[in-house]
Amino acid sequence: MDNVVIAGVGKSIPSKVVTNEMLCQIVDTNDECITSRTGIKQRHITTGENTSDIASKAALNALENANIDALDIDLIIVATCTPDMFTPATACIVQKNIGAKNAFAFDLSAACSGFIYGINVAKSMMKQNNIKKSLVIGAETLSKTLDWKDRSTCVLFGDGAGAAVLSLDQNEGIIDVICNSKGAKWENLTIGARDINNPYVDEVSSINHYLQMNGGEIFKFATVTIVKLIKEILKKNNLILDDIDYIVPHQANERIIQFAAKKLDISMDKFYINIHEYGNTSAASIPIAISEIEEKSLLKKGDKIIAVGFGAGLTSGACLIEWTK
Ligand code: UT7
Repeated sequence: MDNVVIAGVGKSIPSKVVTNEMLCQIVDTNDECITSRTGIKQRHITTGENTSDIASKAALNALENANIDALDIDLIIVATCTPDMFTPATACIVQKNIGAKNAFAFDLSAACSGFIYGINVAKSMMKQNNIKKSLVIGAETLSKTLDWKDRSTCVLFGDGAGAAVLSLDQNEGIIDVICNSKGAKWENLTIGARDINNPYVDEVSSINHYLQMNGGEIFKFATVTIVKLIKEILKKNNLILDDIDYIVPHQANERIIQFAAKKLDISMDKFYINIHEYGNTSAASIPIAISEIEEKSLLKKGDKIIAVGFGAGLTSGACLIEWTK
């Protein structure tokens, strides 16, 4: 029993839908412009629930899907760049909400690659420390970080949460994970925290608390990275694209996925895409997509998927998963 499988997946999406047309009432934009530049038609926005609330619902949904009791969970990781608080970790609030009192819990900050990083960390910890069951959750309330007067960012993002229950098993489900970061380029995508304003500073800095993105730079990084990572994880595992049933990319921009499909010379059908419905939900986008794939019964036992993420940091990562459910 020294392998790790995905035993269940789940998601929680805020019920409030904000369409492109609705955004036209807030900023100078239009549906055609947003759709043609990104593929996004709508996003779901919280009307009060925080990251821990939707993370908890996604976790309960994944536990139900795995048919596992919260008391059997030993480890909870919440990947998020929009935590409820600096401290405690959102994962500890989730622990209380779902009654997983036997677990230890912490957050992980790797932005849109956070779920892949979380899978990597959970897998390693489980194998090394004989941890039998864990929850890896990607959850974001990005709406609280957006400047709703800035049309170049506020139209791109949405709120949501996705979760996976990982279990030690004799089968190999999480076959391989790759994680990278390029800190030299961190300034291209930021959400500022607090200013340094203790009595000993001469001048209080003024950190921008809104999400800020150099879209062009991130676009270039994303297109190069997604293709490189897919090729790398295939090569490392002696596989070819025909061996893969679905590629689940981070949903940031449909044009990034189109670029990758062209470079890899594969059909867009190979990619699971739901950006039109949710926009960019950062760490939540990959687990939400995997949960939808499971809901639609698109995978059967033995099928293989590659999840691939990229984002602030600049972080990136890919994960090769065999479906064992
Ligand atoms: O999840 C983390 C990873 N994030 C990403 O991967 C995002 C990567 N970047 C992107 O997806 C794209 O760079 C964006 C979608 C962010 C931007 O797309 P773009 O085609 O590079 O657009 P742009 O920002 O260069 O803007 C093009 C034009 C500008 O007008 P001019 O200067 O050409 O006249 C903008 O003012 O589109 C205008 N524009 C808009 N127009 C209507 C920008 N936003 C809007 C808008 N509605 N919402």
